[in-house]
Amino acid sequence: MCGIFAYLNYLTPKSRQEVLDLLVTGLKRLEYRGYDSTGVAIDSPDNKNIVMVKRTGKVKVLEEAIQEHFSGGEYSKPVLTHVGIAHTRWATHGVPCERNSHPHRSDDGNGFVVVHNGIITNYNDVKTFLAKRGYEFESDTDTEVFAKLVHHLWKTHPTYSFRELVEQAILQVEGAFAIAVKSKYFPGECVASRRSSPLLVGIKTKTRLATDHIPILYGKDIRPHGQSRELPVLPRSESTSEFMPLEEKEVEYFFASDASAVIEHTNRVIYLEDDDVAAVRDGTLSIHRLKKSLDDPHAREITTLKMEIQQIMKGNYDYFMQKEIFEQPDSVVNTMRGRVRFDGNAIVLGGIKDYIPEIKRCRRLMLIGCGTSYHSAVATRQLLEELTELPVMVELASDFLDRNTPIFRDDVCFFISQSGETADTLMALRYCKQRGALIVGITNTVGSSICRESHCGVHINAGPEIGVASTKAYTSQFISLVMFALVMSEDRLSLQQRRLEILQALSNLADQIRAVLQLDSKVQELAKDLYQHKSLLIMGRGYNFATCLEGALKVKELTYMHSEGIMAGELKHGPLALVDDSMPVLMIVLRDPVYVKCMNALQQVTSRKGCPIIICEEGDEETKAFSSRHLEIPRTVDCLQGILTVIPMQLLSYHIAVLRGCDVDCPRNLAKSVTVE
Ligand code: G6P
Repeated sequence: MCGIFAYLNYLTPKSRQEVLDLLVTGLKRLEYRGYDSTGVAIDSPDNKNIVMVKRTGKVKVLEEAIQEHFSGGEYSKPVLTHVGIAHTRWATHGVPCERNSHPHRSDDGNGFVVVHNGIITNYNDVKTFLAKRGYEFESDTDTEVFAKLVHHLWKTHPTYSFRELVEQAILQVEGAFAIAVKSKYFPGECVASRRSSPLLVGIKTKTRLATDHIPILYGKDIRPHGQSRELPVLPRSESTSEFMPLEEKEVEYFFASDASAVIEHTNRVIYLEDDDVAAVRDGTLSIHRLKKSLDDPHAREITTLKMEIQQIMKGNYDYFMQKEIFEQPDSVVNTMRGRVRFDGNAIVLGGIKDYIPEIKRCRRLMLIGCGTSYHSAVATRQLLEELTELPVMVELASDFLDRNTPIFRDDVCFFISQSGETADTLMALRYCKQRGALIVGITNTVGSSICRESHCGVHINAGPEIGVASTKAYTSQFISLVMFALVMSEDRLSLQQRRLEILQALSNLADQIRAVLQLDSKVQELAKDLYQHKSLLIMGRGYNFATCLEGALKVKELTYMHSEGIMAGELKHGPLALVDDSMPVLMIVLRDPVYVKCMNALQQVTSRKGCPIIICEEGDEETKAFSSRHLEIPRTVDCLQGILTVIPMQLLSYHIAVLRGCDVDCPRNLAKSVTVE
């Protein structure tokens, strides 16, 4: 949760006003990560102090405050070298308010200021330690202890470099974090680090970079983190000097929680790994490791991002979510691009092909995820069981961990995550990896933690998804898992007919999605009937049960209405009691193997005076006769119907949210990337 953005210009003159603009734009790109309060810290015009601006609410509120109080005059004069840090918050410790907003400071004089994403789990111990030494705390956050700890170390070790101070502080804190620190005692310097929360460094130079790698430097005798709670003075680290760090004359650095915040400035980035400490001093970036391990590479690679700025802009749409729903004809094709050869009926998943023999020998497949990603597993489970002939378990990551689920070396565990950073999913991944299972990542974010920690995987290639409510990532995850099922059944003679049928349907999918999107205005009309109600029940079974769960999740997160995805087979075991002439019900009834059963459910509902909205197949007069309100979708193979039935649900929740005046892209209390457990 939370978005970090920091900007350092070295020998590249920028006014403070320009720096503030850059910081605010960076925060806007990261707003999906949390948006209950925001803040920035820059140097004061006399360069002697640090000025902080914080606001409760979204980045817009901060932007207005900056325009009002920090523009013109001294703020428009260029500064050769400067560091600014910024943050958008999603509250974990302490309510959203200015006092709890980041940056947090070490003391009244703003000696050290910190922005942080994640949770410092031992913050109470550190707080007690610091309180005994006279530190007074002004917020309810865990982050503040970090700023004060660095200050304490600075007072006790006045000769330490900025990087060493931050390193020593990091060694004392436990939990998950990404952190960026600025100090008035170390002007022009910035130190950043991460542990289990994402952080990258963007590098912008006038000329092409002289190197593609930043060597890793090690401190000597540094103890692993969390060994001591007494805050002893640890041996001072001395970097080895056999490698030269990156030295460029005129350079700008960007520290950000993800690439969408830096892509408009540079496409050259380094993804930091856990316990990396990145420090910039005199325009030179160096990367240090807190812990040395045998398999550490010698350097961190500079990656060239392929993402385009247009990909993350809203275009002509009112909301990112709307844009992302309408991108699905293209995003599903991108997921299949270079992988599905319709002419030769062949599928190659380059990221896992070497592991397929091992996967075929496994005991069972486990599909693990949270929220929408979990639903993509529910949606494809039946097909995976059919085409792999293996037991398939689908698991919510949090529950999976709560149960200490037994995992064996011959299990294959799929971790499905749009962001690749969801803490519960990542923890479940590590749990399974420790137990020797093969780890397959299904993510949309290249370079994310789940990507890096998996043995192999599939990038779903849906393009950046900014709206907090996931849409195009769901359909692309769905297709990725279908492709996997097809790969697994390649050499099964008895399944060839079925495979051909699915491949044929995949080739028509983009057009069929376009046809479903044409229903938009009809869905908008239905939304007008529904938006003032308190509840919406969504019923279906078989291949469409996942659509019910996902549809209900979309309605809940976007509209704040109650909604429930109901397995139609369970109707008579309880939910039917909810049905009367006023309860809004939506039913999915398609001509698939469970059609007759769905019709039974439909009759049960209508005979209780329920008047459901029906999603049915084009031209299915018999089913349509049950209600005056229906949405007709094109016919496809049963196992892909879920892709076509979920789109009306995405549109419906979107329109209801607009009618109810909800913030479509940033629903209250939610965040796109949940990096806390
Ligand atoms: C958050 C988002 C959901 C998302 C879930 C899993 O809760 O609000 O939309 O489905 O995280 O995210 P992931 O990035 O792991 O797919």
